Amino acid sequence: MLTQTRNYRYRLLISGIALAALTACSTATAPAIQSAPPATQAAAAAYDHDMDVFHPVIARNGMVASEQELASQIGLNVLKGGGNAVDAAVAMGFALAVALPNAGNLGGGGFMMVHDAKTGKDVALDFREVAPLAASRNMYLDEKGNIINGKSLFTHSAIGVPGTVAGMAHAAQKWGTQPLAKLIQPSIDLAEKGFPVSETLAKVLRQETRNMGKWEASKAIYWKDGAPLKPGDLLINKDLGNSLRLISRDGAKAFYEGEIAQKIVADMAKNNGPMTAQDLREYKVVEREPVRGTYRGYQIVTMPPPSSGGAHLVQILNMMERWPLKDWGHNSAQTVHHMAEAMKLAYADRSEYLGDPDFVKIPLKGLTSKKYADELAKTIDPNRARPAKEIKPGKPQPYESDQTTHYSVMDKAGNIAAVTYTLNTNFGSGIVAPGTGIMMNNEMDDFSAKPGVPNAYGLVGGDANAVGPRKRPLSSMTPTFVLKDGKPWLVTGSPGGARIITTVLQQVVNAIDFGMNPAEGAAALRFHHQWTPDELRLEKGFSPDSIALLKQRGQNVAVKAAMGRTQSIQIRNGEFWGYSDPRNPDGKTLGY
Ligand code: GLY
Repeated sequence: MLTQTRNYRYRLLISGIALAALTACSTATAPAIQSAPPATQAAAAAYDHDMDVFHPVIARNGMVASEQELASQIGLNVLKGGGNAVDAAVAMGFALAVALPNAGNLGGGGFMMVHDAKTGKDVALDFREVAPLAASRNMYLDEKGNIINGKSLFTHSAIGVPGTVAGMAHAAQKWGTQPLAKLIQPSIDLAEKGFPVSETLAKVLRQETRNMGKWEASKAIYWKDGAPLKPGDLLINKDLGNSLRLISRDGAKAFYEGEIAQKIVADMAKNNGPMTAQDLREYKVVEREPVRGTYRGYQIVTMPPPSSGGAHLVQILNMMERWPLKDWGHNSAQTVHHMAEAMKLAYADRSEYLGDPDFVKIPLKGLTSKKYADELAKTIDPNRARPAKEIKPGKPQPYESDQTTHYSVMDKAGNIAAVTYTLNTNFGSGIVAPGTGIMMNNEMDDFSAKPGVPNAYGLVGGDANAVGPRKRPLSSMTPTFVLKDGKPWLVTGSPGGARIITTVLQQVVNAIDFGMNPAEGAAALRFHHQWTPDELRLEKGFSPDSIALLKQRGQNVAVKAAMGRTQSIQIRNGEFWGYSDPRNPDGKTLGY
């Protein structure tokens, strides 16, 4: 019970967090707080309920956290049936393609961070989409060199060669213990029997009326009586069930060379899309070395390029390490100002240096070096926001030595899988390849179509992220592990386009600097700065006096929609503590 005797700072924290959750859930139909009592008496004793406002889900044997309860249930069943974290993650990857069709996918791509308990190794599995062979630098420009509106977003030219099916199959084969067919079966059942559309999904479907309404194959699945499905309508996708059945029978080959490939290529040919049978056949996943850093004695293990996420997460943390955030206070004007200035510097570097590491040389060691962070931090004025136009990308070289979804799984053997994968914007291109039930991505928009011109997330880029055949577009997805004394301590990640990096940053800082449990960390108000536009974006609920202080320092404050939806699991007292971000009421953390 909270009492009147709590000190003032603690009460401030409570009111900030409560307001955050209230704000974030104002349109929700489900309660914001997941009611999962500690699994055991011992867990209840170890967990100091008296101090925390938001309680995580607690379990002893394994845990899954995702944005869709049906997918979490499928993952939990895999763990309970003896599968490991990667088995569960693969089953959930297929399940989200059915149950969270605006972001979960077979027609997109993403990243899986794996911690293999047996070998102690961390691997970053890259199943990002690649540009077709026929892609070219100026493919989204007209003859005058201007961007052709919507071409990189809502046409067949927006679609990158999908990586998800290859990624899931690779993970299952390399780190899993169960046959792929067994992991896919629950998703076949879900696609064929259907499930009721939630308020959240119905809202996204409504928002995409124009984009999806152009395509008969998309409407045949997601519309009824001439309009997008409504809350409570049954969503059945028999074609997707059939595609899943083919993958379950023939493995990834079904998608890249078999019947599914033929249908995708036929639709491309009919609509002047550049992707060919060769592009699909030659798609490859890549195992990469994670980006590593340290922060206040914790080890950060996170996603390398072609995501910018890990590099800039570590870069910002390196700048922040010198500041006594705990003394300054969570979300105080002082803390927010300093973090925002550090974010700006990192996003300026992102625009210049980040791209596909197989095509461009990225000064990764420099970007993540403590000495480079020292140099950058010297340029931050504690009392004045530097206008974005004053900031240019730095020189890390000398230091060389929306829609998306994230889910996290930990098992009792100590394996971890953290997956962020995506179609890019909600429902990607809006195009279902006829006869497959598979929604195709619009990931090509993550390239910089023209240097200096912002993409769907307002991000600008340069040569490093120019379009090129077989290149992977730059991402911000940041599936991340935090280790303590070399042992897994926190796994987290989020959707949110450009805001993924700063969302993950704040979940990490809330845990390390402010000692918040995953529920409190997720419910806390978020902020974001990405250099351009020169705007400090705040969630609704920051106090008027903090906003006034930030404005006094010259920050261009804009109060906007909620940011990010973390799915986090932490190890505390030998137990799993997890939480699904309250900003999506459909999310669910389950353990056993
Ligand atoms: N499409 C969003 C990202 O990859 O960052």
